[in-house]
Amino acid sequence: MDLSQSNNDYSEVIENDRAHVWHHLSQHKKYETSDPLVIIEGKGMQVWDANGKQYLDAVSGGVWTVNVGYGRESIADAVRDQLVKLNYFANSAGSIPGSMFSKALIDKMPGMSRVYMSNSGSEANEKAFKIVRQIAHNKYDGKKHKILYRDRDYHGTTITALSACGQNERKDQYGPFTPGFVEVPHCCEYRSQYGECDDYGVRAARAIEDVILREGPDTIGAICLEPVTAGGGVIPPPEGYWETVQEICTKYDILIHIDEVVCGLGRTGKWFGYQHYGIKPDMVTMAKGVASGYAAISCTVTTEEVFEQFKANPSDPMSYFRDISTFGGCAAGPAAALENMRIIEEENLLDNVTRMGDYLLDRLEDLKGKHGNVGDVRGKGLFVGLELVTDRQSKQPVDETLAQAVVGDCLAQGVIIGVTNRSIAGFNNTLCLSPALICTKSDLDQIVEAIDNALTKVFG
Ligand SMILES: Cc1ncc(COP(=O)(O)O)c(C=O)c1O
Repeated sequence: MDLSQSNNDYSEVIENDRAHVWHHLSQHKKYETSDPLVIIEGKGMQVWDANGKQYLDAVSGGVWTVNVGYGRESIADAVRDQLVKLNYFANSAGSIPGSMFSKALIDKMPGMSRVYMSNSGSEANEKAFKIVRQIAHNKYDGKKHKILYRDRDYHGTTITALSACGQNERKDQYGPFTPGFVEVPHCCEYRSQYGECDDYGVRAARAIEDVILREGPDTIGAICLEPVTAGGGVIPPPEGYWETVQEICTKYDILIHIDEVVCGLGRTGKWFGYQHYGIKPDMVTMAKGVASGYAAISCTVTTEEVFEQFKANPSDPMSYFRDISTFGGCAAGPAAALENMRIIEEENLLDNVTRMGDYLLDRLEDLKGKHGNVGDVRGKGLFVGLELVTDRQSKQPVDETLAQAVVGDCLAQGVIIGVTNRSIAGFNNTLCLSPALICTKSDLDQIVEAIDNALTKVFG
């Protein structure tokens, strides 16, 4: 495909966009004098904009979503076939794709049992929060209702999901928030709160226990954590962290809710990020990669033990999960998700993620050797961050305009990378890479080369 040769004229599209579209996460003043980026087409790892310019997409659709790459006709066919057969019926009834996808998903999640479908990561997390609250009401007289979340983590855009958000710039100007959400410290070893220590991971987990004891264990129903913090700076857990978190949650009878919205469906080299760390979750939420963006679908997956509590008392008309999402589990979503899983399995993409992820980390470590402004390279599988600093000694974060300049220069070179954005004041300095799970060494070479050039240009 060579759209650069095409004579397509998208001026009307751009004009209408500038006149009427309110873009996500965007300050629009600049569009009074410049055109927005309009993406027209995608194939594999490549996308083309309205001017015919081609880009290698190193962030899977901008926000870590298109796990199996663009232009998958088999997913489009599965969705089309399903829509023609049955486009919609409320999810209080069953469906063929809903049933088959749920079974396929649970097969990859030993210990888990039930799949509740909705539309977005935020919504999936809201369902989990409601489950915690309802259990608190039914089992603990409303007391064990508090939900812990971690500094630097993100769980979605709704007011309650923002109540569980550890990124101050996302919350700013949107309060007041839903009560009952309590923050615990982050676990970014590069930004250790305890100086240099051999047991950082255990200490970071014990800091959670301190919060639990301060609040009272009998008030805390659950903890919601990303397996690898994403938009807060790509932070894989330090050694010893998860084992200690698990031990603490068991001790105080606190449900573990893992937010796999980013890591789920292969991004880190296993089906789910938590599966690297021996965690036994009570609830797992997922969205972006579930159908690789071919349809909107998210899931809140629970153990049978959690599920059981919502059918234990059929004589009480209020004791079941009284939640509905009109489009949740809408037929196209699970149809796309089922085919997405088949592709990941059949093309051995989890192995590819592990091999390519190691290669990418090695190449970026080389880059760190070359550029003093790369303070830290960290990640898991094909999910990697580069934290930019003024110098390694002081670890002072670079000004966010410089990090954005690196992203801008890569874009000019035809490579789309990401950066932490309106996340944590003073720390919007981490470049993010999350290429599709199908990427090759030569794709990664192109990405690293673009960053190399951009770092030279921006920092000299
Ligand atoms: C870890 C995490 N959880 C939840 C969400 C919210 O997902 P959505 O934008 O689909 O509501 C995001 C979005 O980036 C995310 O990164």
